Amino acid sequence: MHGTIESAAKLDALRERASSLPLEQFDPGDPELFRTDTFWPYFDRLRREDPVHYCKDSMFGPYWSVTRYNDIMDIETNHSVFSSASSLGGITIRDIDPDLRRESFISMDPPRHAAQRKTVAPMFTPTHLDNLALNIRERSAECLDNLPRGEVFDWVDRVSIELTTQMLAVLFDFPWEDRRKLTRWSDVATTIPGPDGLVATEDERQAELTECAGYFARLWKERIEQPPKSDLLSMMAHGAATRDMDAKNFLGNLVLLIVGGNDTTRNTMSGSLLALSQHPEQYRKLRENPALLDSFVPEVIRWQTPLAHMRRTALTDIEFRGKQIRKGDKVVMWYVSGNRDEEAIEKPYDFIIDRARPRTHLSFGFGIHRCVGLRLAELQLKIIWEEILKRFDHIDVVGEPKRVYSSFVKGLEELPVKIAA
Ligand code: HEM
Repeated sequence: MHGTIESAAKLDALRERASSLPLEQFDPGDPELFRTDTFWPYFDRLRREDPVHYCKDSMFGPYWSVTRYNDIMDIETNHSVFSSASSLGGITIRDIDPDLRRESFISMDPPRHAAQRKTVAPMFTPTHLDNLALNIRERSAECLDNLPRGEVFDWVDRVSIELTTQMLAVLFDFPWEDRRKLTRWSDVATTIPGPDGLVATEDERQAELTECAGYFARLWKERIEQPPKSDLLSMMAHGAATRDMDAKNFLGNLVLLIVGGNDTTRNTMSGSLLALSQHPEQYRKLRENPALLDSFVPEVIRWQTPLAHMRRTALTDIEFRGKQIRKGDKVVMWYVSGNRDEEAIEKPYDFIIDRARPRTHLSFGFGIHRCVGLRLAELQLKIIWEEILKRFDHIDVVGEPKRVYSSFVKGLEELPVKIAA
């Protein structure tokens, strides 16, 4: 059941299964493996024994898994064969009902992709980020100053969700008092409907996303009537490639920007504290030398890998590493596996905050779709940790984290922590 924390014995059994299960029965995209954090040995074995693996049957249908770092790079850079198009199923392992598909520029191929991406890119230039830095610092400081002392609280809700939601509200110039709606819409957009999920059915999910579209349509109308400003909505409302988007493309791009900017950074903020608490010697090193934040931030983004995969669809038959991929096949690039590939990354299972080449990781993808917000993500993480190190000698993780039931969003739902009184 989602939400339960299993015994150590059960988790060991799940991990051990990876060594005895025949490879043909491997289904590394099973969200349960991610909720229980037991997927690692499955990918270790795939990288060693069957790096381009076919799963015939799963809750997401058949799919290929590409698990080695360099093979993932090859797929990422071959977009003339491996498509992101939403009409073919999009960019995650889970196909969406064709009637419900919403195009966004992450699920478009050239040439349309580039034009829409270019519209929002000015948000993420170094100069614009310099302008945002003070705002990020002030909000981070206020959030940290208001945290309880001497009592247990949930880091995910109080810090990671709050700060990334505030950031989104700033990027969209969204009504401040309603900002938690953004969190809800982001979570609903990526959740798997079910009795234990955030929503019970696909219909419920669509109803909430329709509410999201309606809310934003009102804001859009306001922005069109105003002169161009530097928020994401105004950029799209006035941009040549986006101002005439149809309703589905509009909602698609909104969801992309909300999810892109929200879950990922949120889960790295939570994952960074968990990683340091699991590696006290690295935490000490960071406290003694905050200048290490420049390499700590990319290392923690590799370590967490907030999006476990991206998916492509083959546009033609192609032989890849000796395997015959057919036109229309679903190809999943497992960043989470590439980020632990010892052929590309030295000691990949070690968390080393002063690595020589910390930016050798796949967490932001590669090629034409490489994360457009990556500098903003790194900036937010750097600032929050600068402010944490100024204030607190130590933040203790005092219980097991609760992990998200998803093989796409790799994240933490709850992380109980305590700061000394
Ligand atoms: C640690 C934080 C983040 C991670 C790990 C992350 C990860 C990713 C990944 C894996 C991709 C797809 C790359 C590919 O297919 O090759 C992507 C694309 C994207 N990300 Fe991020 N992201 C993060 C933060 C952000 C932020 C803060 C924003 C914006 C506010 C953002 C907006 C986007 C957008 C718009 C795209 C689509 C780019 C395109 O298709 O050209 N991301 N991100």
